[in-house]
Amino acid sequence: MDIFDEVSNWEKTEGAKIFSSLLDVSSPVILDYGCGTGNYSFAAAYAFDCKCNVYAVDINKQCLSYIDEKAKNEGLNCIITAVGREDYRHDFDDNTFDLILYADIFHGEGKPYDGLHRFVMVEEAKRTLRPGGILAVLPFHMSNFRDKDKKKCKYTYKKLINEICDMGFTYIEKDLLGIHFEKVYSPYYQQKGGVTFESLERGKMLIFKNETSL
Ligand SMILES: C[S@@+](CC[C@H](N)C(=O)[O-])C[C@H]1O[C@@H](n2cnc3c(N)ncnc32)[C@H](O)[C@@H]1O
Repeated sequence: MDIFDEVSNWEKTEGAKIFSSLLDVSSPVILDYGCGTGNYSFAAAYAFDCKCNVYAVDINKQCLSYIDEKAKNEGLNCIITAVGREDYRHDFDDNTFDLILYADIFHGEGKPYDGLHRFVMVEEAKRTLRPGGILAVLPFHMSNFRDKDKKKCKYTYKKLINEICDMGFTYIEKDLLGIHFEKVYSPYYQQKGGVTFESLERGKMLIFKNETSL
């Protein structure tokens, strides 16, 4: 089994379990914003036997073509790809989603927010999640975060949890680990001979509930 088979296997097993443990609604509507190669979108689709809608959104069109092709090959017609916006706002109506995932996308310093895009993203999650909906955040590179004054500030889970709760969410403690998939697709690591599935970093997935609509 090569690493891509192992990742595929994760999507159908451990990854799918993450999503089925988070939602007990039938036919959920899920958003994976900044989906990259879509490993979490595939896991969500498998969790509900494709009896769901999974919106896989990214600004990188190559990633979306990769997902479309893979979804076609795997017979998953519940994954809908869409191009994201520079300003991280969602082109979705209020109260649309049962679950929104932000995996490995809160770091970075690009324009227009110089590292503060996570505030816009949480605001958008508040708007587009249904009351009772779930926001799942999988942060990596937390030493690279910026505080509200745009100063580099080493974040802890506690600091990030408090920040998101201050924006109208309730934290739910869950023992869920997500995977940092970056190295699997990185040309740098591929040139060096690749990485093993076991060596991929695991990180805590932070789970929040949107108790009320705005
Ligand atoms: C580090 S990757 C994480 C990919 C995936 N969520 C995962 O955990 O495997 C961050 C992704 O965010 C995407 N991205 C960056 N800015 C974006 C924006 N404004 N809207 C949508 N996606 C964006 C990038 O293209 C990239 O695929």
